[in-house]
Amino acid sequence: MEILEQQSLRLFNTFGIDVKARYFVTLEKVSDITEFIREARFAGLPRLILGGGSNVVFRQDYPGVVLHVKFNGIELVEENHHDVFIRVAAGENWHDFVRTTIAWGYAGLENLSLIPGTVGAAPIQNIGAYGVEFCEVFYALEAVDLETGMTKIFNQQTARLGYRDSYFKSVAPNKFLIYSVTVRLPKRVRWRIDYQGLKGRLVGDDEPLSAERISDVICQLRREKLPDPGELGNAGSFFKNPWVSASDYDALKNKFPDLPGFKRHDGNYKLSAGWLIERCGWKGYRKGDVGVSSLHALVLVNYGHATGESIWQVAQDIMASVQARFGIALEIEPRVIE
Ligand code: FAD
Ligand code: EPU
Repeated sequence: MEILEQQSLRLFNTFGIDVKARYFVTLEKVSDITEFIREARFAGLPRLILGGGSNVVFRQDYPGVVLHVKFNGIELVEENHHDVFIRVAAGENWHDFVRTTIAWGYAGLENLSLIPGTVGAAPIQNIGAYGVEFCEVFYALEAVDLETGMTKIFNQQTARLGYRDSYFKSVAPNKFLIYSVTVRLPKRVRWRIDYQGLKGRLVGDDEPLSAERISDVICQLRREKLPDPGELGNAGSFFKNPWVSASDYDALKNKFPDLPGFKRHDGNYKLSAGWLIERCGWKGYRKGDVGVSSLHALVLVNYGHATGESIWQVAQDIMASVQARFGIALEIEPRVIE
């Protein structure tokens, strides 16, 4: 366990926000968690679990302990006629894990290619992209309760994964440190290529579909649509897509006939936050070093030295304008750290 004091977090969050953590603890192995819990100088301090820092916004210096999760390892733990079960340590890079499963000959994760961050964070907001959500492959996870030091196993019922949400995100943030995740991948392959823009890139030539090909095309699409945090600081979508009832959707559609909406199984409609924000004139906006990506209106960007506070302020202005024009309250997606 490595302990640093007054560590800059600029290189540890993809927004590139330059704040400091009072303590920065790197956890290399699971036994480091027990060592951390026993360490007297950390008692009573707030703590923040950090993976790749691609879904966090720091508004100020962090007054407590940042726990940087670096556990590694991927193993096939079980196999039957229908499925394989793969257990992976929380610090593994998500995209590398996806590509490893593909190289091993398994499908199921290809639509989730190139999502930044670590495996341990995947359940936190139930990552999703191109028509697939993590909850569809989730089997179980192992976590340590940082208050008691006890290990707990969570499954589909107890992890409560929903759209960009989970028990860990909305009920008990930073209580459980996830150290491993087990996914269940079906042996019978079912390609999921109906998401807008995906099928067109895959059908029409003679090349057969494969997990690798779908993954490659998704990487291509993502590179075209989203700014690369290596070049321009960002945390992906800054807001969740809002849901409205069928009657609210009809009323809005009457007023804004080109409003995109996607009917869900429960009868409600999912709206595109990106569309609402673009319609309020924010796409390509820039004030100082904070901006709204010109590639995607849902992505706030840091042109260099933006502070978390200035990003937060622009987010508030965007939310107010969407509320005023459409009567919709947007919800921030990344974890905002006060
Ligand atoms: P961090 O940012 O480090 O942490 C996020 C949250 O998880 C924090 O609350 C943290 O405390 C908690 N956490 C992290 N690790 C652990 C752990 N081991 N145990 C307990 N809690 C933990 N998300 C999508 O869903 N779909 C997308 O398509 C998508 N595209 C993106 C594109 C870009 C360019 C960027 C920058 C982000 C995108 N995201 C997307 C958001 C982000 O990649 C995911 O939320 C990812 O899972 C975050 O991983 P991380 O390791 O960086 O988490
Ligand atoms: N749109 C606009 N203007 C824009 C961007 C989008 O009008 O600038 C509208 C268009 O109508 C477009 C629609 O929004 O067709 C959907 O856009 P996109 O396919 O990019 O998806 P999204 O709903 O904006 C969601 C996720 C992304 C994920 C993509 C792909 C959320 C909050 N975001 O974005 O996840 O990669 O779908 O599946 O659900 C993230 O969570 O950080 C993230 C990037």
